[in-house]
Amino acid sequence: MCGIVGYIGQREAAPILMDGLDKLSYRGYDSAGIAVIDGTNKINVRKAKGKLENLVNLLETSPITGCVGIGHTRWATHGEPSDINAHPHTDVKGGIAVVHNGIIENHESLRNFLTAEGAVFISQTDTEVIAHLLNHLYKGNMKQALLRAISMLEGSYALGVVCDEEPGVLYCARNDSPLVIGEKDGECFAASDIPALLSHTRDVIFLKDKEIARLDKSGISVYDAYGTPCQHPLFHVDWDISSAEKGGYAHYMLKEIHEQPEALQKTYAPRRSQNPGDYAWLPISPEDARNLRKISIVACGTAYHAGIVGKYAIERLARLPVEAEIASEYRYRDPIIGENELFIAVSQSGETADTLAALREAKRRGARVMAVCNVVGSTIAREVGDANTLYTYAGPEIAVASTKAYMTQAEVMLLLAIALGDMRGTLPRERVDALLEELVTLPKKAEEVLKTEEHLQRFASTASQKKHVFFVGRGLDYALSMEAALKLKEVSYIFSEAYAAGELKHGPIALLQPGRLVVATITQPSLLDKTLSNLREVTARGARVVAICRESLQDKVRDSVEEIIAIPDADDLFAPLLAVIPLQLFAYCMAVARGCDVDKPRNLAKSVTVE
Ligand code: F6R
Repeated sequence: MCGIVGYIGQREAAPILMDGLDKLSYRGYDSAGIAVIDGTNKINVRKAKGKLENLVNLLETSPITGCVGIGHTRWATHGEPSDINAHPHTDVKGGIAVVHNGIIENHESLRNFLTAEGAVFISQTDTEVIAHLLNHLYKGNMKQALLRAISMLEGSYALGVVCDEEPGVLYCARNDSPLVIGEKDGECFAASDIPALLSHTRDVIFLKDKEIARLDKSGISVYDAYGTPCQHPLFHVDWDISSAEKGGYAHYMLKEIHEQPEALQKTYAPRRSQNPGDYAWLPISPEDARNLRKISIVACGTAYHAGIVGKYAIERLARLPVEAEIASEYRYRDPIIGENELFIAVSQSGETADTLAALREAKRRGARVMAVCNVVGSTIAREVGDANTLYTYAGPEIAVASTKAYMTQAEVMLLLAIALGDMRGTLPRERVDALLEELVTLPKKAEEVLKTEEHLQRFASTASQKKHVFFVGRGLDYALSMEAALKLKEVSYIFSEAYAAGELKHGPIALLQPGRLVVATITQPSLLDKTLSNLREVTARGARVVAICRESLQDKVRDSVEEIIAIPDADDLFAPLLAVIPLQLFAYCMAVARGCDVDKPRNLAKSVTVE
């Protein structure tokens, strides 16, 4: 989703802003722009629809100079992608420039009010109202104008603002949309995401909702909504910029698929204990675990699919009812959640607007809340608190399509199921020990599975022109199929659907005909016979079936499918984590074979910070 950068210092701002925008481009965007204050205190704006290269070309023919500026990559919400709708936006005189992430919900009433006051709007965006509003409120002090403006804005925003009457200052503000600021050696930086700052500083401040910041050569000052100065601890970013770079792989998605063994290991390591029954990492006491009546796992997209793995696993091991639900539905359906119930938000970014809103809704209703999150310091992690956040240690995930984050979210779900099963006494100790023991071997097995890449490349070269692909499975394999279908459709644009294998004959089988491609996941021995009889119904209609299958089940499956991609044996609970790797590689190879922009699929954004 949209990206923001800002700079004030002694160096030329334009190259620094462009470098920052490049680092944020993985989030997805449709246009970009920068505004820089020059030596005569004039704000110069350059913007261009499409890829950053277009803006680079524009800056070559029409350069801008100066040491203070803001930049933006836009992902259209109000108004089509165009040069005019791209940010920064300015007031009528061009003396105030604004970049904005988020959505201003009361933009229409503000637009009407400001138009009546003489403002002339040239774009269709909600952001432009902010520039005109600041101009309307500006009485010689931008800090005061910004504080008044944010008291009038409804909705979500991260803002970067520059003003020609205060040419040495960069202002920022946030509400429900992330903004990080940092300072080093007389230079200050702002960005909507850490990678844009990392080459300049590792010590950053996360602005809180309704706070504003004033950045100038003497440093950073943060104020609350009443203008009172606030102090924030510096957060030290300990991951390296190289972990956010491609490192020799053709795409981030492929690199991140290959990082999964390490991500699995890193996520389990801090939770591994020599003492049986030691779950110090889990903020739930054995007594609370026994008293739990229900768990709601709420998330969006891939994170939701990890939540479904959690539902199957926790219900199976801890004998506790679990609802897994999409956050955009949960937040508006008047959910029932009460005493002795636990709400878990799952989010890679920790910034997804719907997940955050669902979390706040659950909190408002008095639920106990936890989060499974990858980004330390993100809004969801902060709202839940570090103690109640089960961090996944996948490292920065840059590709829009989530892979290693899913893997570690599912791993945390399984760990949670084992811990709850142990604490509630529904899982015998020997089984707990065996599972935890096996978890240690999972990264090695995941390495093995990565070798299926060549097979999948070959397969994709014969299948990449398919228009439809169905994914089927039962139980945990169905949960996996949902994730596989999402991955394929988002990166290759092939229409793909997941069905519970047992559901096929209740409708979807009507779509099966000679040549259709069906990908079956088979990791659950107890469901094997049922799944095989479903697959025979599929092949009888002439469809082509390829199976992702556990080694030990291959012989029984061979006669019912055209092709098998085998994965090493593992416990029923862990085998799906291994099986997801060929499914991710399948989506990747299909997308590459079709010439798709794998890391930045059309219309998608990495972090969906608007509703
Ligand atoms: C799909 C994908 C999305 C995200 C979803 C939630 O590959 O990445 O479906 O999973 O937007 O994002 P987070 O996990 O950041 O809340």
